[in-house]
Amino acid sequence: MLCLLTASLLAVPALSAYVNQSREYNQGKYGDGPYQDVLFNFQKFPSSAPEDEYLFIAPRGQAVRSAGPYIFDRYGELVWDGTMFGFGQTMTYMPTTYQGKSVLALWQGNFNINGYGNGQGVILDEHYKVIANVAPASTFTSVYPVKRYDLSGYQNTLASPRNGYILDGVAQEIDIATGRAIWTWSALDHVHPSQCYLPPGTSGSRDSPWDYFHINSIEKDSKGNYLISSRHCSAVYYVRGSDGAILWTLGGRNSSFRQDRRTSFSFQHDARWHDDETTISLFDNAATGGRGSTARGLHLRPNSNSGTVDFIQEMLPYLRTPSLSQGNVDRQGNGNWILGWGNIPYVSETSQSGELLWAGQFGYGDVQSYTAHRAKWVGYPNTKPDLAIRKNDQGYTVFMSWNGATEVKWWEIFSTSGTQSRSVGRIGKSGFETTFSVESSNLDGFFVQGLKGDGTVLGTSRIRRTDGRDGGDP
Ligand SMILES: *[C@@H]1O[C@H](CO)[C@@H](O)[C@H](O)[C@H]1NC(C)=O
Ligand SMILES: *[C@@H]1O[C@H](CO)[C@@H](O)[C@H](O)[C@H]1NC(C)=O
Repeated sequence: MLCLLTASLLAVPALSAYVNQSREYNQGKYGDGPYQDVLFNFQKFPSSAPEDEYLFIAPRGQAVRSAGPYIFDRYGELVWDGTMFGFGQTMTYMPTTYQGKSVLALWQGNFNINGYGNGQGVILDEHYKVIANVAPASTFTSVYPVKRYDLSGYQNTLASPRNGYILDGVAQEIDIATGRAIWTWSALDHVHPSQCYLPPGTSGSRDSPWDYFHINSIEKDSKGNYLISSRHCSAVYYVRGSDGAILWTLGGRNSSFRQDRRTSFSFQHDARWHDDETTISLFDNAATGGRGSTARGLHLRPNSNSGTVDFIQEMLPYLRTPSLSQGNVDRQGNGNWILGWGNIPYVSETSQSGELLWAGQFGYGDVQSYTAHRAKWVGYPNTKPDLAIRKNDQGYTVFMSWNGATEVKWWEIFSTSGTQSRSVGRIGKSGFETTFSVESSNLDGFFVQGLKGDGTVLGTSRIRRTDGRDGGDP
């Protein structure tokens, strides 16, 4: 999606980072996935989104040129391109805290077309530097071991179903410091495959084992128990930490709760506790399992004593639409919800009362993001600002950017001549790349400084000579 050249020499005047309700966007006018100039297509504009919060999205898919983790501002303007820091295809990706500090947690690795795989979590600090490998700060990871299994009685195409193979769903809590597993739970020990919905079909061989359970979220609560979401059993399991016993099941063939059309869900993702662990949100990939006509966010209150579940609210997309896989709901401090629509490249916000506040599209064609989050973030990259220069009739145009630097409010531009340098102006940062015109010819080169709102210098670029060469540090 993003064809990004830091400090690129754009031949066209900078456009807004977004368009509104553009049909051309979906006719590919900006390419399969949009470019640096136009990233987002808003169906509904985010007028009320907080200025100091950012969107965390990791696009991937056939139409994405550089899959990886990105940060955008509320209007879809690029803030950080993680691929330039060496990060590639990413699944779970979120701002969180680790050891009391704000960090980015992301899960990278190899995963196959069926959406499972082996990889690892990476934690980045405010400098976008890796400070821990293992798993997200919530310290959970899932593993998919292959086991021999008799698949007779399950719809499959194997010549010898008795000698089939199954993929277990293993949830694991890992101590980041030591890398050791603190807790391990195997789905096969607790949930019989007959409880789930997706038959082996053409899978079930050693090379392509039957992914009967498919864990896609794990959350530990204050009691030391775990909430585990299984996509293929369309159920959320509440598992006792001490012995792994299932305390109750929400959804699926053996729900502990009486559920109606509004409170039922299927092929869901991202089950999370809220409200002192009395309510649960999840992303309902309904329509994947043939039930319902649209994916949605869902907020429920399960009452394990009475075996009932209250419907609190649903979060609907701009237009009713299925999303076959992935997706999440991210509750905001004010009770609003940010939704990532998974298989389709949309992000939206719904208020507590169910109003769709805004909805945006971040690509066209096969563009997916496992999750989408919004949160405050302050980034101080260890790199230097980038700079490019173009000569024009009146003098020079200076292009400056600094991938991931959230605090830059101003740019100060200096020209150099021999060993001398002098400021030629200051300009407010605008978008990912800011341009500045200098009406003077015969200058040796330029460098720029990124400044905070109060004028404090955050970083200084190298000197870019007007003949195109690098002029070293000023
Ligand atoms: C998009 O819509 C918003 C809200 O109506 C408006 O403020 C903004 O100028 C529009 N931007 C573009 C590029 O059309
Ligand atoms: C259904 O759930 C109950 C408890 O929630 C459990 O005891 C029982 O074994 C489950 N049935 C099957 C077939 O898994």
